[in-house]
Amino acid sequence: MRGTVRYGVIGGGDMGREHIRNLALLDGATVAAVADPFEPSRSAALRIAGPNAVACPDYRELLADASIDAVVIATPNHTHAVVLEDALATDKAILVEKPLCTTVEDCRRMEAAARRGGNFVWVGMEYRYMPPVSRLVETVHAGAIGRLRMLHVREHRWPFLPKVGDWNRFARNTGGTLVEKCCHFFDLMRLITRDEPVRVYASGAQDVNHLDERYCGAVPDLIDNAFVIVDFAGGGRALLDLCMFGEASPAEQEIVATGDAGRAACTIPASELTIGRRASGRSETTVIEVAPALLSAGSHHGSTWFEHEAFLAALRAGTPPAVSVRDGLVAVAMGVAAERSITEGRPVDMAEIGLKEPSPQKDLREFSPFQKRDGGDTEPLPG
Ligand SMILES: NC(=O)c1ccc[n+]([C@@H]2O[C@H](COP(=O)([O-])OP(=O)(O)OC[C@H]3O[C@@H](n4cnc5c(N)ncnc54)[C@H](O)[C@@H]3O)[C@@H](O)[C@H]2O)c1
Repeated sequence: MRGTVRYGVIGGGDMGREHIRNLALLDGATVAAVADPFEPSRSAALRIAGPNAVACPDYRELLADASIDAVVIATPNHTHAVVLEDALATDKAILVEKPLCTTVEDCRRMEAAARRGGNFVWVGMEYRYMPPVSRLVETVHAGAIGRLRMLHVREHRWPFLPKVGDWNRFARNTGGTLVEKCCHFFDLMRLITRDEPVRVYASGAQDVNHLDERYCGAVPDLIDNAFVIVDFAGGGRALLDLCMFGEASPAEQEIVATGDAGRAACTIPASELTIGRRASGRSETTVIEVAPALLSAGSHHGSTWFEHEAFLAALRAGTPPAVSVRDGLVAVAMGVAAERSITEGRPVDMAEIGLKEPSPQKDLREFSPFQKRDGGDTEPLPG
């Protein structure tokens, strides 16, 4: 694809406008149309996109415009399946916001449709593109911490913000907190471990947030705190620690990868990367600078610009999307497994959610204060 790529942005709310601001900072990209049925969102988005962008109350007008090369779908989660299905019927490149869809069934339908259509579809897992996170991923994959065994992801932040029509107050619209918000973290777990999840154990609840709100008489039903443990096929394990009444935390996000030779950790918004080695017991911290223009173009630590830079580069080079529909599907499936684990109070195998990866046999010695002797008897571990 040569020349300036013409984008259409579907959904002119908070995230749609963040996309428009970042596309304006990218060479070779222009926002040519914005679609939103809600006039205030549409005009706010158009003011950022500039006078040459066309306004469409119905996204299907935008999809019918042959001059648009690529679309960004930034509509509420429960509308992704319908809008994406229509977009997949065109030959436009697509960046669909996370979560891919709110159910695994819809994600599978999208995967089949994208395969049939051969579309270029990229799922908006932009946390991969936060500069300190990308550096942590590179560090781990370069072998700096040896063999990765444990991964901690902590997000302690503020409650869900108000959204247009309050769509994000109910799990039927969002997929549930562990799908809506935490698909980012499950995606990071797969990216960092380069492995597939096999089992999920979770504990969580709605203890603090939104309990005093009413929408047509109904109280929101959103988990606001959880611990989620994920076992990976290769034996590594990951923990998500989520608190959405954690405004007092200095770090909004912290990711710690620990291997048999060392440890790499990053924090946001401090944008620090700390790498330590077991052999020396020492660590060094580097601040990963992010250009102020990118920080102020959104609320995601510059990641939206880097995501678009990578999207456009892949589109021009004809290489596959870095974040595939499959990646989007598995991240949703992990969230669904975590929500189910909480509701049913039990571990949930990913095979139950329809993912094929087999569960590894658990070696109970991992959890036992006894170890097996050659003869098969057990004896207490020393110390
Ligand atoms: N990647 C991230 O980190 C990130 C961050 C925030 C939001 N998001 C995602 O972006 C999406 C939008 O979230 P938001 O925060 O902008 O919500 P929002 O409520 O601020 O905006 C959504 C907009 O979509 C419009 N809309 C609804 N149905 C539509 C349709 N059929 N066609 C066109 N427009 C339609 C609404 O009128 C509204 O203006 C969600 O899927 C959300 O999960 C992703």
